Amino acid sequence: MKRIPLSHTKIKDLSSFDWAKYFQYNNSHLLKLDFRMNQELTPSEKELISPSIRAFQLGEGSDGKHLEAAAKSFAQKTNYQKYPEIMKWFVLEENRHSMTLKKYMEIYGIQPFSDLWIDNVFRILRKSMGLECEVTVLVTAEIIALSYYRALANATGSVLLKTICRQMLHDELKHVVLQSDTLHRIYKKRGDVFNRLMRLFRRFLMRMTVWSVWISYKDLFFHGHYTYRLFKRHSMEYLAESIHIEKTDSLCPRRTRKLETHPKRRRNEG
Ligand SMILES: [Fe+2]
Ligand SMILES: [Fe+2]
Repeated sequence: MKRIPLSHTKIKDLSSFDWAKYFQYNNSHLLKLDFRMNQELTPSEKELISPSIRAFQLGEGSDGKHLEAAAKSFAQKTNYQKYPEIMKWFVLEENRHSMTLKKYMEIYGIQPFSDLWIDNVFRILRKSMGLECEVTVLVTAEIIALSYYRALANATGSVLLKTICRQMLHDELKHVVLQSDTLHRIYKKRGDVFNRLMRLFRRFLMRMTVWSVWISYKDLFFHGHYTYRLFKRHSMEYLAESIHIEKTDSLCPRRTRKLETHPKRRRNEG
């Protein structure tokens, strides 16, 4: 299965990209979801998707207060005046994701989580420091979500769920680019030694998250046509793309194609 690269977002020039305008446009051009399609999931499919969809539904939602405050302070320090509005739109979009999943779960009587250990760890990490910490954790979770929503779309025959996942993938690809652009703005203002350490931390966090998500939801990923190796490779490649954006503030399709078509990697994944 081929990974959809970040260049799929077709953003030409990140430095001048109008994120607020994009979010506004996206919000009024969503895929049509017909929630009357309520007889699609078999009992075994419901059992298969329930643990992970409950976890992701919880993770998508947030009141955004910590992020809002961090965005305001960042805007003042860096004179990036548009940033608080961009992040307001971003939080709205994430809450829409959460509501959409909840609505789908309600059709089949899947109860939402109110609390989950992995979600708690992510929330504590996000709020433990300033904007950089929050964005670093967010982009890690969003990279994981890119593989998760593809697996979820593949795992059942539900047309409605596949459409929901398609919208999620479209939105999350853009989110990864947005957070990477924010990291670029943070990293460019400080020394290379610390930046290298942070990149090491990002790789470590990604490996740990891939492992813990796989351990928790491997049945869903298997049914969604992922092996552990493929899930890890896709996640690390998205991270490489994100780091490329953080370093250069541009998207790089050539590097992505090279990684995806490496014959040895393809053979190993079968
Ligand atoms: Fe989301
Ligand atoms: Fe997101």
